[in-house]
Amino acid sequence: MKKILVTGGAGFIGSNFVRRALKLKEDWKIVVADALTYAGNLENLEGLKEQYNDRYNFVKIDIKDKDGVDELFKKENFDGVIHFAAESHVDRSISGPLAFVETNVLGSVNLLESARKHFKNKESRFLHISTDEVYGALGEQGFFTEETKIDPSSPYSASKASSDLFVLAYHKTYGLNVVITRCCNNYGPYQFPEKLIPFMIKRALDKEPLPVYGDGRNVRDWIFVDDHNDGTLLAFEKGKSGEVYNLGARCEKRNIELVKLLIEKLKIYLKDKKDFKEPEIAFVKDRPGHDFRYAIDPSKAERELGFKSKVSFEEGIDYTVRWYIENEKWWRRIISGEYLEYVKKQYGGR
Ligand code: NAD
Ligand code: DAU
Repeated sequence: MKKILVTGGAGFIGSNFVRRALKLKEDWKIVVADALTYAGNLENLEGLKEQYNDRYNFVKIDIKDKDGVDELFKKENFDGVIHFAAESHVDRSISGPLAFVETNVLGSVNLLESARKHFKNKESRFLHISTDEVYGALGEQGFFTEETKIDPSSPYSASKASSDLFVLAYHKTYGLNVVITRCCNNYGPYQFPEKLIPFMIKRALDKEPLPVYGDGRNVRDWIFVDDHNDGTLLAFEKGKSGEVYNLGARCEKRNIELVKLLIEKLKIYLKDKKDFKEPEIAFVKDRPGHDFRYAIDPSKAERELGFKSKVSFEEGIDYTVRWYIENEKWWRRIISGEYLEYVKKQYGGR
């Protein structure tokens, strides 16, 4: 049995990862470490303890707590770490950058320190989940490769770029066995309804206008969360130490095109709902420093890891829209007073 620490396992991508890894990797014991911030939710991991018994454990811990993290590493003797925990929302990083430095930079360095001191052996691997946002923005042409210069725009992406550099420094300085993945925009179940897709679905169901930033021509590159997580498993098992792998599904969409598609899907699935009303789009003030376009070239991961995304956008988005309609209770429960405060601040009365 291998003992793997998954940080941020109660969040969107992390919880989907834990579910998938427990199913696919029968020789893994997973310890999820999560602070359960507004974005982390134990309901995302419901049923796993009953199903997997001692192959799954949850520890509530804040990665900013250096001593707590160190004790956990000392006690558990991990064979590897898959590090998802982060403050992940760009808009929140614009209104409050410090939390991003504390968790994404300091928290990541706490984990690296403990890994360096307490990892079982040289084979024990630290996989850092990063983002294509560290590369900054593209114009209408071109793609991000692993050689693209790091040029982050937002406090969120600056904090992720900074943690990437620490991860690489621990490899160069201490010989720590590390791999970094940089993925594009994920979509799928259990995403907190502040991110574009679940947020628009929530607004539509609440009969509120859908706020599109700027002119809506910005491009994001989308991947279904399970495809990202399959790439994560491949990078963890087959990646070369000290290397970066871009993960993506070659699926670019302009925001406005995506929002219109969501409206079409909602019209199909909610046509029989008595009071359903076609949502309106509201073009609102642009995000400061809004990156124009992201587009990942995943050739290196395809070539070296055998990575290939499997879920088509049509299939994935259809499944996702239906999931949020069917799981309204889940997202209604996780949006608390803090969430309402945030939306009021971010979108005003609109
Ligand atoms: P999320 O916000 O849904 O979840 C983050 C998780 O981290 C939550 O469970 C939260 O409780 C936990 N967390 C936050 N601060 C913590 C702390 N100090 N200590 C312990 N736990 C803490 O985020 P996500 O969208 O699932 O993203 C996961 C990772 O993937 C992040 O590192 C993010 O940068 C990266 N990523 C996300 C995307 C995307 O499209 N969502 C794309 C590429 C990379
Ligand atoms: O590219 C990977 C990144 O994708 C991850 O590293 C981040 O953690 C993740 O949050 C995501 O960042 P984005 O900023 O691209 O995601 P978001 O869902 O916030 O926004 C997607 C696009 O939609 C972006 O161009 C801004 C726009 N947008 C977003 C919201 C919330 C709107 O037009 N209106 C909105 O209300």
